[in-house]
Amino acid sequence: MTSNLTWHHHAVDAQSRAKALKQKPLVLWFTGLSGAGKSTLANGVEQALAELGKHAFLLDGDNVRHGLCKDLGFSDGDRTENLRRVGEVAALMLDAGLIVLAAFVSPFKADRQLLRDRLGERFFEIHVDADLSTCEARDPKGLYAKARRGEIKRMTGLDSPFEVPENPDLVINTQQLSPDEAVARVLIWLVDKVGLDAATD
Ligand SMILES: Nc1ncnc2c1ncn2[C@@H]1O[C@H](COP(=O)(O)OP(=O)(O)O)[C@@H](O)[C@H]1O
Ligand SMILES: [Mg+2]
Repeated sequence: MTSNLTWHHHAVDAQSRAKALKQKPLVLWFTGLSGAGKSTLANGVEQALAELGKHAFLLDGDNVRHGLCKDLGFSDGDRTENLRRVGEVAALMLDAGLIVLAAFVSPFKADRQLLRDRLGERFFEIHVDADLSTCEARDPKGLYAKARRGEIKRMTGLDSPFEVPENPDLVINTQQLSPDEAVARVLIWLVDKVGLDAATD
C-alpha cells in the first residue's frame, strides 16, 4: 500500500523549528509500574520546563487511551501497538521542536528498544522506580485491588511482567525522593547530562 505514497519534503524543517523555539527537542520516556509516580513526575517536569520558557508536551498513558488508542486493550500485542502509535506521535512532536514527556508503564524491553530505535539519540529512558508493594499500597486508582479481586486481568506487576530497564538513562526512586526532589533531580540531569540549555544543533 505504501508503494503508492510519496514523502513530501517541506521547506521548514525540524532544525529550523527547533531553532525558532530556542531549544533542543527531546523525548523523555518515563517507564515504571502503575503507581510508581510517572504521571506525578512528568507533570512536575513539564511545569518546571514551562517556567524555564521551554515548550514541552506531556503524553500520558491514561489520556491517550481515551482517544488515539481507545480501540486498544492490554494484551501484549495491544500494548505494543499502543506504544508504537505514541512513538510516532512523539516523532512528529520532536519534528515540531518540542520536548516530549511520555508517561507509560511500557513494561516490555523490546517495545522500549523499538522506541529508542525509532526516536534515536533524542530518546531518553527514565525508570521511575518503586517496588511492587509500595505501588500496591499507594494504589491511587484502585487498580491493584481490582486485579487482586480478579476484576482486571494482565495487571503489570501481578499477572503481567514488568521488565526492569537494564540501561536506563536515569533512575528516579520515588521511595527515596519526594515529588519535588524527583523533579529537581531530573532538571539537574537535563542541564548537566542532556544539555538542556545547549545551543540548538
Ligand atoms: N516521589 C513520590 N513520593 C511519594 N509518593 C509519590 C511520589 N510520586 C508519586 N507519588 C504518589 O504515588 C501515587 C501514584 O502516582 P502516579 O504519578 O499517578 O503514578 P503512575 O503515573 O506511575 O501510575 C500517587 O498517589 C502519588 O501521589
Ligand atoms: Mg500515570
